Amino acid sequence: MPAPTPTTARAFDARTDATLATLRETGQFKDLQTIEGPMGPTVNVRGYGECLCFCSNNYLGLANHPEVVEAGIKGLKEFGAGTASVRFICGTFTPHERLEQRIAEFMGTESSYSFVSCWNANEAIFPTLCEDGDLVLSDELNHASIIDGVRLGSVIRKGLLKGVYKHNDLADLRAKLEKARDNPAVTGVVWVVTDGVFSMEGDIADLPGIRALCDDFGAMLIVDDSHGAGVMGATGRGTHEHQGLEGSRIDVFTGTLGKALGGGAGGFVAGARRVTDLLVQRARPTLFSNALPVTVACSADKAIEVLMREPQLVQRLRGNVAYARKSIRDAGFDVLDSPTAICPIIVHDTAKAIAMSKRLLELGVYVIGFGFPVVPEGHARLRVQISAAHTREHLDGLVTALKKL
Ligand SMILES: Cc1ncc(COP(=O)(O)O)c(C=O)c1O
Repeated sequence: MPAPTPTTARAFDARTDATLATLRETGQFKDLQTIEGPMGPTVNVRGYGECLCFCSNNYLGLANHPEVVEAGIKGLKEFGAGTASVRFICGTFTPHERLEQRIAEFMGTESSYSFVSCWNANEAIFPTLCEDGDLVLSDELNHASIIDGVRLGSVIRKGLLKGVYKHNDLADLRAKLEKARDNPAVTGVVWVVTDGVFSMEGDIADLPGIRALCDDFGAMLIVDDSHGAGVMGATGRGTHEHQGLEGSRIDVFTGTLGKALGGGAGGFVAGARRVTDLLVQRARPTLFSNALPVTVACSADKAIEVLMREPQLVQRLRGNVAYARKSIRDAGFDVLDSPTAICPIIVHDTAKAIAMSKRLLELGVYVIGFGFPVVPEGHARLRVQISAAHTREHLDGLVTALKKL
């Protein structure tokens, strides 16, 4: 490929400047706030001082838990800064094995395999597990990493078919499965993929209903429970536990280690041994990219150990979620109902959501406003995320600030 000429480089500059200017003019430009200390129920935001934090995924407060931090330091001292290798060459360390056994035990599956992020895991599964003649049916509100993972799958496997069903709509999913049964182009496996907890709505997939449909049609079920693991169910196993399903009833789980399960980074796939064996052999994101840093694996492993030892953290989170939802609603706000730790307050207008989040930060409360195009036009919202680490005073502080708006 020839090096760009000065003319083409100038063309890039001009079009990028125009894009950035449009984002600024339409109020969509994201200013990154800098946190000057550890992640917790309060954070030090540069320029704003100590703020109540209601926008992190630190659902169980484990991101700065002393044992989780200590495990990372110990890992760093024992194993050094990183693997300097991909998994199949010389990048598999004892902490990877330990973490993967822990994840499998936690999720109730035969096996698990770690990735540097859940984004990576979702990019790995479709090109690796699917083949030509397979069909993937995806919930319309699935996370961007699932959407892009399926797209990538259909680029690498030209004969992979894809479809979208209406959000959590079992009748529509059934209709799509019936259509697939009669479609001669579908010669392989039908896959249904859904988030467990949907990240913008905070609602949950009807996993028993979807499982029953998959059983009726012989389809495989993939659940990304990034926002459900550590949050949902009596012991935090996830959305399947909340709905009374064993982990083994989900064919393939994906999830993140960057939210409730320690908040560092990393992702995983959990399921039958044949699933993870195939990923080890063929998943390009782990064949051609460094393994999860050992320090991060050690911290995540410790975070899951703490959660398994102290399931009361999940109960505490649940109490906080119920209290926060009721208080926000009593204050006159329209908050979507659900048992998850994501409480979207619907304000409709994008500019209003952004202005409210700015004002809240000035009041010492850190909440992010999401508008179009992240959510549909007219559905702009403040997304409040609750943590087990919040005290009642923190939750009351949120409501007091909301009332000032
Ligand atoms: C449902 C879902 N899947 C995947 C991801 C990506 O996770 P990670 O940060 O580990 O890449 C997220 C994060 O926002 C998510 O909400």
